[in-house]
Amino acid sequence: MTVTRKVEHQRTDLGYVPVYATGVVEQPWSDYSATDHEVWDALFQRQRELLPGRACREFLDGVERFGLGAGGIPKFSELNEVLADATGWKLVGVEGLLPDDVFFDHLANRRFPVTWWIRKPEQMDYLSEPDLFHDLFGHVPLLLNPVFADYMQAYGRGGMKAFAIGPEALARLTRLYWYTVEFGLIDTAEGLRIYGAGIVSSKGESIYCLDSPAPNRIGFGLERVMSTRYRIDTYQQTYFVIDDFEQLFDATRPDFTPIYARLAQRPALAARSVLDGDRVFTRGTGEGWASDADA
Ligand code: PHE
Ligand code: FE
Repeated sequence: MTVTRKVEHQRTDLGYVPVYATGVVEQPWSDYSATDHEVWDALFQRQRELLPGRACREFLDGVERFGLGAGGIPKFSELNEVLADATGWKLVGVEGLLPDDVFFDHLANRRFPVTWWIRKPEQMDYLSEPDLFHDLFGHVPLLLNPVFADYMQAYGRGGMKAFAIGPEALARLTRLYWYTVEFGLIDTAEGLRIYGAGIVSSKGESIYCLDSPAPNRIGFGLERVMSTRYRIDTYQQTYFVIDDFEQLFDATRPDFTPIYARLAQRPALAARSVLDGDRVFTRGTGEGWASDADA
C-alpha cells in the first residue's frame, strides 16, 4: 500500500507550486483523528439542514441512498458497494488535485478520485483546494443518477480528446465542467435548485447562488458556457441553469472538435456578461463584485 501524505505546496524557484501526486491510495480510515470525524459531522450537519429545498431531488436522493450521515467520515469501501450496484462507478482515494490527463483517465473508466484528507476545523467555510468533504459530499451523491453518471464518463473521454488537441480546447472544456459539475443550477417545477458540487459543499454559496440578487442566472447553452471565463476566488458572478440532466447529456453528445476550432476564433466572455440572446432567469445587480480579473 502506498503511504498516504497530504500534498503541500512546495517552494521552488518558480515560487510556491502545487505538487500533483498521481497515485491512487488506500483510504487510511483508521488514521483519521477524532477532530477529522468531527469536522465531517459538523459540515454534514450544516448542509443537511440547509439543502432541502435548495439542492435538487437527485442530489438529496443520492445522499439518502448512500446513507450518508453525521456518524464520522464514510468509508469509501462501503460507498463503493452501493455504487457498484447502481451505476458501476468506483471511488478511488487520491492525495489531492490530479494532472488533467490522469483525472480524465479516471473519469473515462468510471473511477471518481476522492481526496482522502479532510480540512481543518479553522477551514470550515473556505479552503483553496478540494478536500474529502468537497469531493465526497459534493460530487458522489449524483454518481447514483444514471444520466449524470454517464455524463461524467463522457466528460472524461472528452477530456482525453481535448487534452490531445491542446490547451485552448482544454480551457473550453474546463469551463463546461466548472459551470455544470461544479456550479450548475437546475430548473424544476418547484423553482431553481442546486446540483453543482462546488455549491452543495459550501454553506455560503448554497445560500448566495439562490438568494442573492447579485449574480446572473442564465439558461445553459453549450457554446455560451464554453466561452465564459469564471471566478476561482469568489462566489460566481453567473450561474448557468439546465432544464434537466438529459439536456446536459444531449447538448454535450456532438463531437467538440469543430466547436473548439470555431470558439478559438472568438474572444472569451467575462464571467459577469449578459448577452442579447441569453435566456435570463435573473439579471444580477453585480452588488459586491470585485472588479479584478476572471481566471
Ligand atoms: N462530446 C464531447 C467531445 O466530443 C465529449 C464530452 C461529453 C464532453 C460530455 C463533455 C461532456 O469532445
Ligand atoms: Fe470538485
